[in-house]
Amino acid sequence: MGLELRVPEPDDFVAFMEPVWRAFGEPAPSAEEIDDERLLWEPERSLGAVDGSEWVGATGAFTFELTLPGATTAPAAGVTMVGVAQTHRRRGVLTALMAAQLDDVAERRDPFAILTASESSIYGRFGYGPATFSTELELRTDRSRFRDPLEGRGRLRVVRLAEAGDAMAAAYERCRRQRAGAVDRRKEYWQRVQRDRPSSRDGASALFVVTHTDDDGEPDGYATYRIKQRWPSGLPDHTAVVTDLYGVDPDIEAILWRFLCDIDLVATVRARTRPEDDPLRWRLAEPRQLRTKDLSDWLWVRVLDVPAALTARRYATEDSLVLTVEDRFRPASGGRFRLETGGDGADCEPTTAGADLILGAEELGAMVLGGVAPSLLARAGRIDEPTPGALARADSVFLCEPRPFCGTMF
Ligand SMILES: CC(C)(COP(=O)(O)OP(=O)(O)OC[C@H]1O[C@@H](n2cnc3c(N)ncnc32)[C@H](O)[C@@H]1OP(=O)(O)O)[C@@H](O)C(=O)NCCC(=O)NCCS
Repeated sequence: MGLELRVPEPDDFVAFMEPVWRAFGEPAPSAEEIDDERLLWEPERSLGAVDGSEWVGATGAFTFELTLPGATTAPAAGVTMVGVAQTHRRRGVLTALMAAQLDDVAERRDPFAILTASESSIYGRFGYGPATFSTELELRTDRSRFRDPLEGRGRLRVVRLAEAGDAMAAAYERCRRQRAGAVDRRKEYWQRVQRDRPSSRDGASALFVVTHTDDDGEPDGYATYRIKQRWPSGLPDHTAVVTDLYGVDPDIEAILWRFLCDIDLVATVRARTRPEDDPLRWRLAEPRQLRTKDLSDWLWVRVLDVPAALTARRYATEDSLVLTVEDRFRPASGGRFRLETGGDGADCEPTTAGADLILGAEELGAMVLGGVAPSLLARAGRIDEPTPGALARADSVFLCEPRPFCGTMF
């Protein structure tokens, strides 16, 4: 490749990010945009490719806590800021960055690397598999009646964004610990949300926040949304574009949905990033009115340390399975392991016993959060089952409800 891989110094930020901004179609980000990105940047977890004095490739990582099935958590490297200069593409720059970054993640003893991908063609070769999915939900408010009335409890408040930071952060922190696939959001994340730059509004209003508090006044849910106004022939036809909706239990999420569907002048509620298994459909008197659009992969997961990753989560059933993980990109992370699952934990050790299932790192990444059935991957020809019946057992062991979901873009 003939390039040097280098950890940037804090002062290198703009030069380091230049190939990323350009790769995403932005030749000259504003000072505000640069500042927004810098707010979350972790220079010591970043790696650039340098050609002479020019930074031509980049990758970075956020220090995340990832929620796993059973409401446990594990450290995860949130891979971000990935781009290669157009002048240097398809020469192996990304491959070199990914290899060095995974070594660094392994050295830090993070069992997982995770990312959200610009294209689904890029990361499978590096051992990442799509583990959570997201869908856009759209509902006409005049067809949004619930089949059963909601029990009123707690209190809703529409709050100014500048004053909502603590309530959103407190409610999110409770919610993210309950759902596999979620990541923590640091104070800088909320600062960035609160900056609410006009460039991120896509023609809609500034951000509204509605918070829900329990009977003791503790925040237990919130939604953020924008109003896109339309007055065709003088008739109100606004859309509420929901960017976040979290409640510590499903009833609070239903209260927030009800609130959104009852906003006067709003004809449509559109939520961009929702779990596939949002129970809203089952609350509606006309469930077909809830349109599910653009189902897409969201969180990609890469396991670096199989025993650490598999013992960090909880499992639905007791069993013992031998998994052969063929890790083509990083052979040191592969091997054959016996996974023994029990009520409150699991053991996982290297073994020489015969394999029940043979899979790649990509397939392990896809199924480790419990959202993708091993038998589904096998039906796509991606897992082998030397022991008859092992797939059905693996489904029972690995799958979790509710399905894992990540609503954070990074
Ligand atoms: C994606 C990107 C970083 C790839 O960088 P790169 O240095 O060209 O990648 P490499 O040369 O290491 O490619 C490695 C392999 O992946 C393939 N590949 C890379 N990017 C690909 C893409 N977008 N689609 C399909 N295949 C891709 C290459 O063809 C190559 O395959 P091979 O090993 O069979 O020859 C670069 O194209 C880019 O900056 N894209 C725009 C920004 C972006 O999408 N970043 C990712 C953010 S999540």
